[in-house]
Amino acid sequence: MTAPCVRRAVLPAALFATFLALNAWAEGEPETDPESDQEQALFRGMPDDVGRLEVFGFCGSCHSIDLVLQQGLSRAVWEDVLVEMVRDQEMAPLQPDIRVKVLDYLEEYYGPDRKALSPKAK
Ligand code: HEC
Repeated sequence: MTAPCVRRAVLPAALFATFLALNAWAEGEPETDPESDQEQALFRGMPDDVGRLEVFGFCGSCHSIDLVLQQGLSRAVWEDVLVEMVRDQEMAPLQPDIRVKVLDYLEEYYGPDRKALSPKAK
């Protein structure tokens, strides 16, 4: 006459095992936000900062963004590039606030020291 007792014990044990399995699964989730890796890939490693979206959107629409990201130019030369894009390459002039964001970003990370390549910039 021990059978009913065994059966009563099986269900809670099974539930508890399921709970442990789910708990372990939840804790096994990667610590890092998977979106940030995807973002890094999408943005070609551009450091996440103000102006990234603008540079990516405005400067990657006609040619590869890599054409921009492989440069290391001073702010003055970046300004010349923007002038040249408008004058020779039919780029629409950037709105003043966007232009400043783009130049700030390019100067900060794609200046002669190419800070974007340093791990600290990430
Ligand atoms: C309307 C299209 C267009 C847009 C928008 C555009 N470019 Fe260009 N860009 C060109 C063309 C066309 C070339 C020359 C052809 C090539 O090399 O692919 C070029 C070339 C370049 C070069 C190569 C060197 C040079 O001076 O020719 C750089 C650097 C550059 N662009 C930067 C930028 C930046 C920064 C932006 C965003 C502010 C931008 N471009 C937006 C069309 C554009």
